[in-house]
This record gives sequence, C-alpha cells and structure tokens, in this order.
Amino acid sequence: METAIELKGITKTYKGEKQAAVCNVSLKVKRGSIITLLGPSGCGKTTTLRLIAGFERPESGEIYVGGQLMAGEKTWVSAEKRKIGMVFQDYALFPHLNVEENIGFGYRGKDKKERVQEVLELVNLHGFERKGVHHLSGGQQQRVALARALAKRPEVILLDEPFSNLDTNLKQTMRNEVKRILKKANATGILVSHDQKDALAISDEIVVMKDGIIQQKGSPKKIYQFPNNAFVAGFVGESNMMRGIVLPGKRWIATDIGKIPCNQYHIISEGEEVLISLRPSGFEITEEGEIEGMVESFSYVGEYLEARVGVSSEKKEKISLLVYVHPNENLKQGDLLKLRVSANFVSVVKN
Ligand SMILES: Nc1ncnc2c1ncn2[C@@H]1O[C@H](COP(=O)(O)OP(=O)(O)O)[C@@H](O)[C@H]1O
Ligand SMILES: [Mg+2]
Repeated sequence: METAIELKGITKTYKGEKQAAVCNVSLKVKRGSIITLLGPSGCGKTTTLRLIAGFERPESGEIYVGGQLMAGEKTWVSAEKRKIGMVFQDYALFPHLNVEENIGFGYRGKDKKERVQEVLELVNLHGFERKGVHHLSGGQQQRVALARALAKRPEVILLDEPFSNLDTNLKQTMRNEVKRILKKANATGILVSHDQKDALAISDEIVVMKDGIIQQKGSPKKIYQFPNNAFVAGFVGESNMMRGIVLPGKRWIATDIGKIPCNQYHIISEGEEVLISLRPSGFEITEEGEIEGMVESFSYVGEYLEARVGVSSEKKEKISLLVYVHPNENLKQGDLLKLRVSANFVSVVKN
C-alpha cells in the first residue's frame, strides 16, 4: 500500500484553550482513496485538515505527505510547499476572474493551457471557460474549485464540508460527481463532513471523531453495521441499544427481548455482560421471527417506514424497538409482528 498522507500522534491545542482541538490523532491514507473525517460540529475535523494543509502547526506528532516529513519536532514545511489542493467550504473562488483564470490561478507549468483544458473536461465544464464565476450555480462553482485544486496534481485534495451549501438533489449529484472526478484523476481525497449520509456514500474509509479523538475507522459498511462504541452507533445512523449476556458458544446474546444473534464471537467471552447496538435495518418481518411485538406507532419517510414496536420484556416494562420496515408493508397501529434479527446488524459496543 502506498501511503499518501500519514499522521502520527498529532495533537493541537489552540492558544488559550485547555482542551486539545485534536488529540493524539494517527491516520494513514492510502494513495487513490477517499476518506471522510466525520463527526459533530467542534470535534476537530477542520483543525485536522488545516494541520495537514500546513495552516496550523501541531504541538506534537508528525505529518507526512507523500512519504516526506512536513511537520515534526524539528521540521516545518510551509503550506505552499506541501503539494496539497484545498477546496474550501465557501469555494473561495476569485470573483473578478473567469472560470479558466480561476482554474489556472497559481499554476506554474508551461503546459498551463492544456492542463486547464484537461481539468475543465474532467469536471464537465467544457464551454464555460470565459464565464464569470458569479454567474455559476453552486454545483458549478464547486466544480471550478475542485478543478483548481486538481490542476496542480497535488498529493492530496482536502475538501471541507463540500456538500453543506447544496440542496438535497444537487447534493446527491455532487456526491457522485466528486467521487467520479477524484477517482478519474487518481487523486487522494480527504473530506470533512458532519453528515453521515455524505460520508457513507462517498468514502472508501470513514474516520469518526469526537472531542478531537478518533472513535473508529473503517469502511462505510463496517462503521454502519458494526459500530464499536455507543457514540458511533448513535451518530452514524440510529440504533437500538441494549444489554445482554453472552450465551455458551458465543453466537447468541440473551437480552430482555430474547436471544439476539451475534457474529462478533472473537471479541466476546461466554457469560460476559455486553452492550449491543441493533440497527433498525437489521429486522425482518417473518413468521419464523423469534421476537414478537406490537406496532405502537410508525411514520412514513419515503424510503422506509420508521416503526416503533413494543416488545414485552422479562422485566415489567415494555421495550420499544425502532424498526425500519419496507414501505410496501401495510402497517397498522396495534398489528402484531414477528421479527427476526440479522447478525449483520448487531454490534458489540463499548460504553
Ligand atoms: N482559531 C481557533 N482558536 C481557538 N479555538 C479554535 C479555533 N478554531 C477552532 N477552535 C476550537 O477547536 C475545536 C475544534 O474545532 P474545528 O476543528 O473547527 O471543529 P469542526 O471542524 O469539527 O467543527 C472547537 O472546540 C473549536 O471551538
Ligand atoms: Mg469544520
């Protein structure tokens, strides 16, 4: 694996602050991959990008770009010398320059004309060369910003909240477009987002952060199906959390609503009390289902029905499960359902 970017134990505390904005962050980004730093506002995503770009200096740790040390105890390479392309949240285009001039800005190579044309085609803006950027839509401005960043063939492209200024439909298009463009250019991309949908859709790898600390790294599927702590389970989608005891054989967990299958036997031991996350997409309505419950309420959200299903527990109080049901299903309040749980959506989590 060729590594484009590596962070080793990076910590950054802003002047006058007690808590570090980024705390002991280590990360390897494979060349050609797209990763997303995902987390709530204030968790240190932008600071991490700014550290990689060279706009901030870490107080400890090392940053490598293309295998070369950029920041370390005795090393500091300035932002202009880092081979990094940046797409800012507000795009930061030059309003008095046209599309072509924006893209070519700061490009020093002799092949400037050809290179500008090449990236223009890559981002599907052929024919827009002479347009002023203020005449462009949000999506088109983003294409210009991306083309400008790609033109210099940087080691990595950093994108800060690239989709937050776009409306829902355009957002979906641009997600696919940014992915297509980065892949076609063989570029490495590091995105920052607070939106789990963006992160799941575009990334090869997601890095979930909270309070400056990495919570979990992994493929979108891994992060969604197998969150390894309660924060990730709650932040990346919704989840039913419950306690249980690992049964002999380690394939089942005894909970208040019955036996739940689990295929994470390698990280649990028999008789252990564990906290599990059960994704609402992990249920199937079937006669063979072991969990019986009653539909308490539901709402139609288009892609699925969000149902609350009350299940009697061994304790006195009922447990209310969040269950995503196929929108074709004709649910009524009070319906009795039998549910089967797929082990692929059950994860053992740390508190
Ligand atoms: N220039 C700054 N000076 C002081 N504190 C800052 C500065 N920039 C960010 N912070 C603080 O650092 C933390 C991380 O911020 P940031 O990296 O912008 O988070 P995010 O991009 O995830 O929303 C926050 O608590 C924020 O208030
Ligand atoms: Mg930010």
